[in-house]
Amino acid sequence: MSVELENVKCPEPDGSAGGVWPRGVERGADGELRIAGLAASELVRDFPTSVFVIDEADMRARAAEWKAAMDEAFAEAAGLAGASVFYAGKAFLSVGVARWMSDEGLGIDTCSAGELTTALAAGVAPEKLGLHGNNKSVREITMALDAGVAHLVVDSLAELALVEEIARERGAKANIMLRVTTGVHAGGHEFIATAHEDQKFGLSVTAGVAREAIEKVVASEHLELVGLHSHIGSQILNLDAFVQALDVVLNLRGEAMKDLGCDIPEIDCGGGYAVRYTALDDVPPAPREYATALAAAVRGHAERTGVPAPHISIEPGRSIAAPACMTIYTVGTIKDVQLEEGGQRRYVSVDGGMSDNIRPALYDAQYTASVISRQAGDESVRSRVVGKHCESGDIVVHDVALPADIRAGDLLAVPVTGAYGRSMASNYNMLTRPGVVAVRDGQARYLVRPETVEDLLNLDADA
Ligand code: LLP
Repeated sequence: MSVELENVKCPEPDGSAGGVWPRGVERGADGELRIAGLAASELVRDFPTSVFVIDEADMRARAAEWKAAMDEAFAEAAGLAGASVFYAGKAFLSVGVARWMSDEGLGIDTCSAGELTTALAAGVAPEKLGLHGNNKSVREITMALDAGVAHLVVDSLAELALVEEIARERGAKANIMLRVTTGVHAGGHEFIATAHEDQKFGLSVTAGVAREAIEKVVASEHLELVGLHSHIGSQILNLDAFVQALDVVLNLRGEAMKDLGCDIPEIDCGGGYAVRYTALDDVPPAPREYATALAAAVRGHAERTGVPAPHISIEPGRSIAAPACMTIYTVGTIKDVQLEEGGQRRYVSVDGGMSDNIRPALYDAQYTASVISRQAGDESVRSRVVGKHCESGDIVVHDVALPADIRAGDLLAVPVTGAYGRSMASNYNMLTRPGVVAVRDGQARYLVRPETVEDLLNLDADA
């Protein structure tokens, strides 16, 4: 196989945390993939494609690893003030997933009435929930205050005034975190980097708006300043970016505490921890490495300034959900196309597409894919996996070496789709959104049932 093709070949399952497959996946001697003990062909008999399939044990383990890493790095015994982990529900949330996260000791970061209601429906304790958003509605703010969530993360001065007004009307005191922008740029695509100045999120530290907001909260009878929040972007491999941003927030906190004589008990460092999507991606740092780097920054700052260390929280989403899941499709039409630059590319169409994974079209995200229903031949062909939408940008995997003997009816899996796949899914071309299946110890069940065309027609007022 050419080097170029070898580079875009899907790695085989190896049971490792940095592999592209969930840890409970293995390929049997017959070439078929088994997911947590269940053969792919058996699974799709009861849960037809296209379908998201989560290895429950792997997703829980990734959550537990974050929790253990943070607890250990920020232990009070080590002179620090403890840590909390909030799973970022925007990656993928269902009642079942909220329960898993809660069982593993995590809270849930929500960013809409929908996510908040789902977490509450799962029975997650309100004091383990946060509410984000740059444009929360009065209803969302009221819901969060009524439920008694741990904190509302306030994103602007306008929102601060609104939350204060609602809290005053209700005779309540709202727990506030202020989301600040540190100026640290990190992450992949421009659309997912969030801490630079020219974007919609947060209160600028450099422009002094963050400090102004802190003063307003401290002065208010109806607001309690529980912490400062920073989220610098997504898919970040670089530990330094987190440390730099944390340093800016530690300085802001330390100065405000000294000047205003107040306490700011917590700093939330947000999410954005990278995962490996293809063989070409670097293996990301383990939770323990991120946690150790953050703890060293907190300890160093406390020693330098004499300001007591804050409790630290984080909000990982992708790094828990993405690698524990794959999308299984059925192969349909196959077409070989001559390329202008010479050579050819094989277009392999599947029974889904940009409606179940918008990330390739939106961010130019790269994925890989593998035939999982049988032992395919050794010869490979340069291929592009595409969906069934009426749009040429409907690409699922840009460039992947697939077996030359691939044929209609084969099951094709795209790994690492657990985050921002189903949660960003649409009904474009009136496709129905796929179900999400959890597999554990050879048993599968729906976490989210697949949509039906009837569901779509139920929303049509004239149907
Ligand atoms: N906390 C906050 C405040 C966030 O805005 C986000 C992601 C997270 C936590 C979780 O970040 P994670 O650990 O999952 O990277 N839809 C895009 C990424 C935008 C995410 C926005 N916020 C994607 O598909 O890559």
